[in-house]
Amino acid sequence: MNQKKLSFEFTHKFEDFISLGGGHVTAAICTSLPPMLFDPGVSVFGPLCLKELRACTSSTENLIIALSHSHFDHCGATAYLLRKIPSARLAASQHAADVLQRPNAVELIRTLNAEYEKSMEADLASEDVTFEALQVTYILKDGDCIELDNGRVCRVIETTGHTRGSLSYYFPDTGIAFIGDAAGALEQGFIHSPYLVSYENYISSIEKIRDLQPRAICLPHSGILAGEDVQRYLFEAAAAAVAYKDMIEKYLELYKGDQKKVVERITQEEYDAQSRHIQNRQPFILNLRAKVNAVDEWLATQNR
Ligand SMILES: [Fe+2]
Repeated sequence: MNQKKLSFEFTHKFEDFISLGGGHVTAAICTSLPPMLFDPGVSVFGPLCLKELRACTSSTENLIIALSHSHFDHCGATAYLLRKIPSARLAASQHAADVLQRPNAVELIRTLNAEYEKSMEADLASEDVTFEALQVTYILKDGDCIELDNGRVCRVIETTGHTRGSLSYYFPDTGIAFIGDAAGALEQGFIHSPYLVSYENYISSIEKIRDLQPRAICLPHSGILAGEDVQRYLFEAAAAAVAYKDMIEKYLELYKGDQKKVVERITQEEYDAQSRHIQNRQPFILNLRAKVNAVDEWLATQNR
């Protein structure tokens, strides 16, 4: 698929909001009282999150860990942090709360995180960061407000499409929104459109975020965008999602609705024809299958 290469200037700090990294480090901290930590990332980054929290907040007491969704690369370090900070509480959607208690899901999250632990064994210095089932204290839904000290609030916005129950978090006073993977991720100048459960909801989630007119957005895998880049990114994210949908639609027509053939064709074109890959082939195919299915389901609602 021909997509123009995009460039955005990411920063790591906006007002009292700090993004810890990019790539596989998804975490961000708001130094509110109590402090909030968003999507701590894979388990190996637990000690890094803790170090940064201690460095940039006066106290980690009553820390609120808020998850955008329950994918392993966003929630992995949560178990370690809850063990290290007993007063910390976890906030997430009902869907994520259910997933984080489900034995087979917990096992999968643990296994995927363990792969990173193995490859970074030396950095861990025998620290136990193992993932385990998580108890969510604050079950959040669209429109909820997390009340912080000094009258501050963090608003909860349901931004599904990537997963069921995906949430974004918005601070009306500073104008920053932590949006999880709701508007995709930028990789090597291209915006990936991970509408794994619903194409329609993914598009309307991007619109919801645009309507907030945030001064800044935090993309967990990249950092913070501020100013004009915010609307430009969201516009391009929606355009990328539509373009990808158009391509899937074209192949669904060509292969008369055979999703398997569509997945094979796109895998050949987008994966096998490339020499460098960010993702392993298996997760690429699993995500692609989900996207093809999401588009097929959406087309069915359009009375083809
Ligand atoms: Fe995700």
